[in-house]
Amino acid sequence: MANETVRFDPHSHYSYGQPKMRHVRWHVEVDFAERVLNCTVLITFDKSGLTTLDLRGIYIKEVKDNRFIDLDFSRIGDHPVIGDGIQFVVPENRMIHIAYKTSPTASGLQWLTKEQTSGKRHPFMFTQGQCLHTRSFLPCQGTPEVRFTFDATIVVPKELRALMGASHISRSDWREFEGRVVERWKMQQPIPAYLVSLAVGDLEERDITDRCRVYAEKEMVEAAKAEFKDIGKIMEAAERLAGPYEWGRFDMLVLPPSFPYGGMENPRLAFLSPTIVTGTGSMAFVIAHELAHAWTGNLITNASWGDFWLNEGWTTYFEHRILEEIYGKEEALLHMAIQERDLKRDMDRFFATGKQAWTKLHVELTQDDDPDDIFSIIPYVKGAMFVQMLEEAVGRARFDKFIRSYIEVFKFTSIETAYFLDFVDCELPGVLDNVHHLDWWDGEGVPINAPRVKSQKASVALTDAQCNTVPIDSHAWSPNQWVLYLQSLSRELPASFAESLLQFGLAHAINIEVRWSYLLFCLETKFMNNDIGEAVERLLTQVGRMKFILPIYRALSCNRVELTLAQQIFKNARSGYHPIAIAQVEKIFKEADEKLLTQSTAT
Ligand code: BES
Ligand code: ZN
Repeated sequence: MANETVRFDPHSHYSYGQPKMRHVRWHVEVDFAERVLNCTVLITFDKSGLTTLDLRGIYIKEVKDNRFIDLDFSRIGDHPVIGDGIQFVVPENRMIHIAYKTSPTASGLQWLTKEQTSGKRHPFMFTQGQCLHTRSFLPCQGTPEVRFTFDATIVVPKELRALMGASHISRSDWREFEGRVVERWKMQQPIPAYLVSLAVGDLEERDITDRCRVYAEKEMVEAAKAEFKDIGKIMEAAERLAGPYEWGRFDMLVLPPSFPYGGMENPRLAFLSPTIVTGTGSMAFVIAHELAHAWTGNLITNASWGDFWLNEGWTTYFEHRILEEIYGKEEALLHMAIQERDLKRDMDRFFATGKQAWTKLHVELTQDDDPDDIFSIIPYVKGAMFVQMLEEAVGRARFDKFIRSYIEVFKFTSIETAYFLDFVDCELPGVLDNVHHLDWWDGEGVPINAPRVKSQKASVALTDAQCNTVPIDSHAWSPNQWVLYLQSLSRELPASFAESLLQFGLAHAINIEVRWSYLLFCLETKFMNNDIGEAVERLLTQVGRMKFILPIYRALSCNRVELTLAQQIFKNARSGYHPIAIAQVEKIFKEADEKLLTQSTAT
């Protein structure tokens, strides 16, 4: 099935067969005043010859060989999704040197003023590489097909720390850099470009176990330590399942609220949203998920973004297994029931907008399809269902052996769905046919043989939702039961139904998942009062996590009056959002605007 010659990542200018990056020596001077990184990079390739690097908005000052002689290079035209690039001949000694500066609007960097941090004393900066954003701060072969090691020197104001998803070597005070310090980091295992990460801020640390520590701003660090107290158990459970943890440490960094994701699996240093620090430990699944990526994603990586399910579906399956082991089957099932709701929501959205091709596990993408636009819960949950089906087809004991050999055979490589299926066919003959695999990886929607979730706690909440009843017996409900109930309520219900739920104070729930689920239900059933309006605005201005803000903006884009209101809120909230989130919100507005225009000209 797999064919070497057709391997090609449409989201990179790099072509298969060209010299590949092997090692990067990165020097970064962080300039908060200008909001730029001033950098030099020395790249070592695996061979000489013509090659290509991806860039986005980077200002190149010079390209030289390692004897500092100018190297001829040509520019590759800019593309709205994949950016521009440079092409040159890697010299015989396989090294090149680039001096460059990032753009103040680099898509992979967020710069926060000191007022936008909790401490309000110092500015903050962090990177987000996945999927195509590393090229906005590091010239690189942006395809996950290419892996490289790196060492880095980061120069920052001495009041701040520079953290990387890497091993810390030293922090030193160089005399010539008045008021600044140099932090040295090293990554010895080869990683794809999207996993390069850096954060600079006024950060404190707390140890949780001998290989896990949490970093956060002072105001958040103790709460974060308490929230992540189970990390030792989570790591042990993950290792029992997937084999030894290969990355040494697993530290966690809690970012400011603008962080656009719940978590990002940067190796050795997971980046996390503060929205998962709830005081209840109920978000342990996010930690389990980011840790699980250490195997599925970081050790075995999708070769291109059309096979994203190999990263996320496998990781979601691991997340379920870890939850089951630590918190029990019932909790894991309740969590899966919520994810099934999310899956239905995204399936419906893609079918309603003619994008059903994106509901396949393996998605055929062109360079015009931006992975940020295609992002949905589908590769996560449909992918996990597929893996679970394979497990059920052969039994857990045999499947667990398969997992170990899958990881052993493919670790530190980047693979396609076809490679994975070939491997399943060899190791577990006949299973692919049993599970009708074609319906999964090349079929739209959720195939009929999908595993069904049967959970006691879930069915209590689901029954109330399906019968359109206000839940009388909900005093003992967990936040997850509330989320499932609220997400499962029909959007055809009258506004008075959301009103009848006011008695539960959900618009002020401490748990943001509960609060968000209720507010979204209000917006989608057109229930509004001052209190709800304010709660919506507060959520949109305090948090930049896309999972929460994008559905709210979508819900507010159905008519001109609400759209104008949403645009007003966005105007105020914008400076607190990450560039990736800003781009997504702007796309929602643009699509809504076009739709409303055609509707009004049609009438
Ligand atoms: N790698 C993803 C985040 C991501 C995906 C960043 C695509 C950029 C592009 C991360 O592992 C993730 O899946 N995060 C989830 C957490 C989760 C428990 C499902 C999130 O952010 O919600
Ligand atoms: Zn993930």
